[in-house]
Amino acid sequence: MKVLVTGGTGYIGSHVVVELLNQGYEVEIIDNLVNSKITVLDQIEKITNKKPIFHQIDLLDKPVLEQIFTNSHFDLVMHFAGLKAVAESVEQPLRYYNNNLTGTINLLECMENHHVYNLIFSSSATVYGNPGIPEYTENLETGHNISSSYGKTKYMIEEILKDLAIANPNFNIIALRYFNPIGNHPSGLIGEDPNGIPNNLMPYIMKVAKGELPELSIYGNDYSTPDGTCRRDYIHVVDLAKGHLSAIDALESGFKAYNLGTGSPVSVLEMVQTFEKINGKPLPHKFSPRRAGDLPEFWANPSLANRELNWQTTLTTEDAFRDTISFIEHQ
Ligand code: NAD
Ligand code: UFG
Repeated sequence: MKVLVTGGTGYIGSHVVVELLNQGYEVEIIDNLVNSKITVLDQIEKITNKKPIFHQIDLLDKPVLEQIFTNSHFDLVMHFAGLKAVAESVEQPLRYYNNNLTGTINLLECMENHHVYNLIFSSSATVYGNPGIPEYTENLETGHNISSSYGKTKYMIEEILKDLAIANPNFNIIALRYFNPIGNHPSGLIGEDPNGIPNNLMPYIMKVAKGELPELSIYGNDYSTPDGTCRRDYIHVVDLAKGHLSAIDALESGFKAYNLGTGSPVSVLEMVQTFEKINGKPLPHKFSPRRAGDLPEFWANPSLANRELNWQTTLTTEDAFRDTISFIEHQ
C-alpha cells in the first residue's frame, strides 16, 4: 500500500512516516520545508533503514502537485501540511487561509482527478472552540468562538471534507482531532525543534532547561482548576502517530472525526514538577498573567477512538520528557 504524506518532514508527519515504514507501507513525502528540515529524511532512514521518496514542493503549486499524482498511484493520503502557529495566524490571516485552505483544496482536487479516495486529515481540538464544558466528545457542535485564524482553518477544512464526502461517496475520510502532542521518538533522532522563542509549553520548558531562555512563565495561577494553572490533555507523539495507522483500517465511505488524546488532563504546574523529577534539577519558573485566548482546561474523551479505531495511549508525560531530553542530547 502506497501512502502520500504531505508535511511528512514536520514534527508529527515524520513520526507517522516512521510508523508507516516500520509497518511495511511505501511512503512518498511532499513538503515545502517552510517549517522543517531535509535532514529529517536521514534521521528517518537511521530509525527505519528505509528512505521515503521526497518531493520538495508547495501544495499551492497545483501543476506540480498534479504531476506527482500522475507519476505515482497512491492508495491513501495523510495530510499534515499546514501552518500552525496560533499567534502568527492572528497577525497573518490571509497567509494562513491561503496556505491551509487553498493547499487542501488543491490536494483534494488532485485526489479526485486521480481517483484517490482515502484521506486521513490532521485536525485539532481547536475545532471545538469554546463549548463551555472541558471534556470534548466528537458529537459536540464545532466552530463556536474559535479564537484564532489557524483554528478556523481547521474547522473550515473539516466542513469542506464533510461536503466532499456527501457529494462524492467514493471518498473515505477521517479527521483526527489532536489534543496537545508532546515528546518524540525514543531514539531521540527526530522531534520538534522550533526556531526562536517557542509559544508552546513543551519546547519552552526545553529551552529553559538548555539555558537558552532564563525562566518559564506560567500563564495564570488563578484559574478555577485544582492548582490554579491551566490543564491540557498532553499526548505522546508516538501514541498519536500510532493512532493514524489504526485509522487506516477504519476508513469507510463518508466523513468521520475522532479525538486523539489520553482523556487525562495535566496542569502546567504538574508538567513543571514532572520535568524537574525526570531532569533531576529545578526548572526556573515564575507565575505571570493569563495569556489571552487560553481556556482554563479541556481534555479529550477518547472513547470513540478507543472503540472504533481499536487504539489507546500507552505512554506518559514522563516518557515524553525523557524522550525529549534524549532528542536535545542528539542535537
Ligand atoms: P509542522 O509545522 O512540524 O509540520 C507541518 C509541515 O507542513 C512542515 O514540515 C511544513 O514545512 C509543511 N508545510 C506547511 N505548508 C505547506 C505547504 N503549503 N506545502 C507543503 N508543505 C507545507 O507541524 P506539526 O506539529 O507536525 O503539525 C502537523 C499537522 O497537525 C498540522 O496540520 C497541524 O496544524 C496539525 N496539528 C498540530 C498540533 C500540534 O500541537 N503540533 C495540534 C493539532 C493539530
Ligand atoms: N503555557 C505556559 N507558558 C508557556 C507556554 C504555555 O504557561 O510559556 C501554558 C498555556 O497557558 C497553556 C498550556 O501551557 O495553559 C499549554 O499551552 P500550549 O501553547 O502548549 O498549547 P495550547 O493548549 O495553548 O495550544 C494547543 C495547540 C494549538 C491548538 C490549541 C487549541 O498547540 O495548536 O491547543 O486546541 F490550537
